[in-house]
Amino acid sequence: MTLAAQLEARLRPALAHFGFADARVQPATDARFGDYQTNAAMILAKQQRANPRQLAAQIIERLDVADLCAPPEIAGAGFINFRLLPTALESQLPALAADPRLGVPAPEQPQTILIDFSSPNVAKPMHIGHIRSTILGDALARSAAFLGHRVVRDNHIGDWGTQFGMLLHAWKTERDPAALATDPLGEMERLYKLISARSKEDPATLDAVHQELVKLQAGDEENLGIWREMQRLSQAQFDAIYARLGITFDITLGESFYNPWLKDTAQQLRTVGIARESEGALCVFSDATLPEKDDPFLISRDGQWIPLPALVQKADGAANYTTTDLATLDYRQRTYAPHAILYVTDGRQQHHFRQLFAIFRRWQPAAAARLDHVWFGTILGPDGRPFKTRSGETIRLADLLDEAEERAFAIVTEKNPTLPEAERREIARVIGLGAVKYADLLPNRQSDYTFSWDKMLALTGNTAPYLQYSHVRIQSIFRKADADPAAQQAPVSVADPAERALAMKLFQFGELLPQILADHRPNLLCNYLYELASLFHSFFEACPVLKAEPDLRASRLTLCALTARTLKEGLALLGIGVPERM
Ligand code: ARG
Repeated sequence: MTLAAQLEARLRPALAHFGFADARVQPATDARFGDYQTNAAMILAKQQRANPRQLAAQIIERLDVADLCAPPEIAGAGFINFRLLPTALESQLPALAADPRLGVPAPEQPQTILIDFSSPNVAKPMHIGHIRSTILGDALARSAAFLGHRVVRDNHIGDWGTQFGMLLHAWKTERDPAALATDPLGEMERLYKLISARSKEDPATLDAVHQELVKLQAGDEENLGIWREMQRLSQAQFDAIYARLGITFDITLGESFYNPWLKDTAQQLRTVGIARESEGALCVFSDATLPEKDDPFLISRDGQWIPLPALVQKADGAANYTTTDLATLDYRQRTYAPHAILYVTDGRQQHHFRQLFAIFRRWQPAAAARLDHVWFGTILGPDGRPFKTRSGETIRLADLLDEAEERAFAIVTEKNPTLPEAERREIARVIGLGAVKYADLLPNRQSDYTFSWDKMLALTGNTAPYLQYSHVRIQSIFRKADADPAAQQAPVSVADPAERALAMKLFQFGELLPQILADHRPNLLCNYLYELASLFHSFFEACPVLKAEPDLRASRLTLCALTARTLKEGLALLGIGVPERM
């Protein structure tokens, strides 16, 4: 049990006496007031119109925590503060040090969580916009799996849609086989842009494009063959990036996989009265069950609420993104019966998902899956606008990763000029990728952030290289001590305040990790790891390790080893590795 859970277990009976069930304890915001605090007395006092400080005193009278903490204190408007006894920490540290889960409690009910992430589009290079979905989705998947849930990682590739009319026509008339061989996605993107521009001016091109699309949709063998080839070429390049980033999927099903169910999905919605015909198309309108401002099928124009229906079948009978997502949801529901589905995409798709979730709830009210749109903001360049290359092109993910490794290589070389080049390259790979990933995970996901090489690669401050360096530093302590970090199980003393603060942080890993999933915020883990590393450095400055007398030395080595493991595991949950040296 985590420290917070132990305090809560003690608090529960005391609060039950006053008819209050919500025993919640939080790490203290200011260490001067103790380690943990609860505002239960304040909430209870409000409910009972009582004096919160008096109530706090009465709760404390009924509290039995003498073996865990110093006598609890009342602070401010009625907070109850707890300061753990050194003996309590010291007696529990061996169990933490021996726990392969680092104190992370197993979930009461393991859940099936399906995560729809990355999901790039065929025939377009993966660009900087895809990095956030890929990295955020991966970190959430790793954290959920570590917590003990069953995770389904689902890459919902965009492999169907009207763009294939353009691509097919361009492929047949303009493709450059040499370019296709060296840079298939670049060539396909060129083809798309070329025909897209031409079809705007030339009605004959537009017509040819349309014919190709109709043929593809009707199952024309030649067009299907080319479409498959475009898919294959794209997937090979996506896979190369995933391999580089260390990212895997359990299922990769493109939008096209769901084509057989699209007609039926639209018809079902019509039959049960969720969708109705409007100007030849099938649309879903508001059912007026939500306040207007929360209704995704209404929009405010000049102070009036007007309908904003969701299209589920166009007048020509074609399905669209929403229809596909509905059929996909239905399939996932039938196939995995998930407790939750997370969609990790750009914030610009918020409206799409609000409509999607509302339609699905009306269609399948009994489906229990929690549906969450885990959206994120934009990566900005130094000019405060979406990050682009100098010439104004979108930045390809492969180029970005190359540059990260190159820059890290320069730094590593400067620091360790004598290491063999292959080793410097490998260290640079781990540092470069780690820096990019961490910079992406650190900001609150919903805010835009400014991309900065210098900031993300800095060896000090809240960066991946700083955390990796902290891990390397601990490894070198063990090299000097000629000791195996995995063998450190000595009794730990927390007599020094720096030891105590570090130990307290280590205990809190198990409290923090479940919170990541509550609101899908890996940034909480980034900040935890940064605080942990900072506390470690303070500890290492204040407390000699190798020069301490034998018992204390063993105690401090045990703290070092546990810190290293927590740093390494925490970074691994973010998809970030640690180099051997730096
Ligand atoms: N392919 C889409 C895009 O690049 C993202 C798909 C997200 N997933 C979904 N089920 N709609 O914007």
